[in-house]
Amino acid sequence: MNKKEENIFLVSPYYNKDHLDRYNDYYKNNPNYTIDEIVLYVEIGLDKEFYTNITELKDYKSIITIVNKYNKLPENYSFDDLVTIDKPYSNDGKKLIRKVAYDSLIEMINEAKKDDIDLIVISSYRTNEYQDNLFYNSIKNNGLKHALMYSAKKGHSEHQLGLAIDLNTVEDNFQYTKEYKWLKDNSYKYGFIERYPKNKEFITGYGYEPWHYRYLGKDISIIIHNDNITFEEYLVKYS
Ligand code: DAL
Ligand code: ZN
Repeated sequence: MNKKEENIFLVSPYYNKDHLDRYNDYYKNNPNYTIDEIVLYVEIGLDKEFYTNITELKDYKSIITIVNKYNKLPENYSFDDLVTIDKPYSNDGKKLIRKVAYDSLIEMINEAKKDDIDLIVISSYRTNEYQDNLFYNSIKNNGLKHALMYSAKKGHSEHQLGLAIDLNTVEDNFQYTKEYKWLKDNSYKYGFIERYPKNKEFITGYGYEPWHYRYLGKDISIIIHNDNITFEEYLVKYS
């Protein structure tokens, strides 16, 4: 930047002086974004291609750990607080979730039932090997482009954190069901957010997944729900 030029990015509350060159480059390539958007998106890391600039997480046990295309778990990650989700809360009675999310999950499913809404966990905690198989099977069955949009590479899935769940089905049509409507209106009250919403694909790196929810606890989920933002945006805006 020319020294005499005004620093237009300073007005953003998310401004970081070390990233000024990145803001300028990103703005050149995205002149239609507002200044706040430029700074927000660079702070999320969106000026770098997905699956580049990857951080391997050392402290990953906190419930606000983000795992995405820029943040991965180490190969040898492990949790000592996984618990089983019994039937009828999961489809096979064998699915695992971290204890911190378990009680809220059961409460959510029980409360939904009172509204005549049936929810069932069909996927939750995954090992590295399981995620790797899913990703490569998806490439085989759907092609690389689709696999990259709907399946994480190993180490890059929040299912591996034991804090993400898929409910009922992984069919696109789930978006038109009363179960989805209920989740949209209520899941945050139990600490779960819709993690890959429609029209936020460019931020999350994944296609719309109306069945996929991430446990973040009630306080954070309320903010994300009220502001209609992603977890990526939350972390820049609120922490
Ligand atoms: N389907 C989501 C993105 C995952 O694989 O974690
Ligand atoms: Zn999922």
